[in-house]
Amino acid sequence: MELEFTVNGREYVQDVPPDTRLIDFLREDLNLTSVKEGCGVGECGSCTVLVDGKSILSCLTYMPEIDGKEVLTLEGITDGDELHPLQQAFIDTGGVQCGFCTPGFIMVALELLNENPDPTRDEIRKWIEGNICRCTGYRKIVDAIELAARWMREGQEAVEA
Ligand code: FES
Ligand code: FES
Repeated sequence: MELEFTVNGREYVQDVPPDTRLIDFLREDLNLTSVKEGCGVGECGSCTVLVDGKSILSCLTYMPEIDGKEVLTLEGITDGDELHPLQQAFIDTGGVQCGFCTPGFIMVALELLNENPDPTRDEIRKWIEGNICRCTGYRKIVDAIELAARWMREGQEAVEA
């Protein structure tokens, strides 16, 4: 089945079997290994990517669903060699431990901060409740998202000044 879509800003016209899961295409065909398969059944959030700016679970998404759409993975959020503020904040706060869950958390956090640049800690907690982390106890993840939000607002203010 011929599909047209973009991944991390690059356009693809691709013949793909319609029963291909998005996670498998991203990891195996495009080598975008930030997309992690935890549970494979929609429970853990580690496979989260953005499609047209909205977070989706790539383990539950089949390729025909992304026809004509834009997919963004963690690999697509960096600016050259520079880490995205969310990546830096996860490192600085200890929000990354084993790291398996981190790409999924960063993608949902990016969706949140695009919609709400100044969320409260409660709003952050609620937003990330579909993502599971076995290591951090979540407080450091909330710290990371709060810190990145502040950096991103300050960066925006500096651009506007
Ligand atoms: S691997 Fe997709 S939700 Fe767990
Ligand atoms: S850092 Fe290990 S699962 Fe979250």
